[in-house]
Amino acid sequence: MVPRLVLRDVWFRYPGSEWVLRGVSAEFVGGRAYVIEGINGAGKTTLLLVMAGLLEPQRGEVLLDDEPVAGDRPSVRRRFGILFQSPDYMLFNPTVYEEIAYGPRQLVRGNDKIRQAVRSALRAVGLPEKYLVRATHALSYGEKKLVALASIISYGPDVLLLDEPCSNLSPAFVERVCSIVEDVVGRGGLAVITTQPSAGCCGKPSLALTGGALRPLPPRDL
Ligand SMILES: Nc1ncnc2c1ncn2[C@@H]1O[C@H](COP(=O)(O)OP(=O)(O)OP(=O)(O)O)[C@@H](O)[C@H]1O
Ligand SMILES: [Mg+2]
Repeated sequence: MVPRLVLRDVWFRYPGSEWVLRGVSAEFVGGRAYVIEGINGAGKTTLLLVMAGLLEPQRGEVLLDDEPVAGDRPSVRRRFGILFQSPDYMLFNPTVYEEIAYGPRQLVRGNDKIRQAVRSALRAVGLPEKYLVRATHALSYGEKKLVALASIISYGPDVLLLDEPCSNLSPAFVERVCSIVEDVVGRGGLAVITTQPSAGCCGKPSLALTGGALRPLPPRDL
């Protein structure tokens, strides 16, 4: 099924803070990557966490194929692949193998299938097999991002929410991130990607998060 993620008049603020999201309405459909730009503090990370159901809006709703994302339903959760802005928040297993195997272990039966899923995800992000025994904490920043991405695609989500996946990466690593996005989108999945203004990431931004709302950007050259 082609995913359809809908936000309806979503309002969110952290306890004691100003509104960060002020009535965001949007529809994201499978087969496309949506790039959202916003300055520091615009609410990009907050928006993605709300879209993933990890933060609950005070008003409005977020629906994936007409089902609310709020709550902890495994059928909804397993469809999301969320890449946090800092890879250090993503990696919590001692080795690269364990990290990438974590998702498949929850969803796939049989050690062979799990090993296969791990190897194929590692290959997809362009890291050699010798990385499987590496300690996650000793990876470079860019390697951590790729391993975090591998740990997502290893369980086959069809909705990617990627928080500044291109920031601080060399062009070669950006290319690998974007080829993963292309692959998921090419299979009918959906990707929402945040970026700093005018930076672009796997395509030009088509939406801007400003003043707590999403606004379409006119097509333009970067
Ligand atoms: N846990 C929190 N408690 C209170 N305020 C928060 C919290 N997290 C974020 N904020 C505030 O919400 C606003 C939006 O933050 P957010 O991290 O979503 O922005 P961003 O666009 O991702 O910024 P950046 O480009 O720096 O990553 C900021 O003003 C931030 O200070
Ligand atoms: Mg952020």
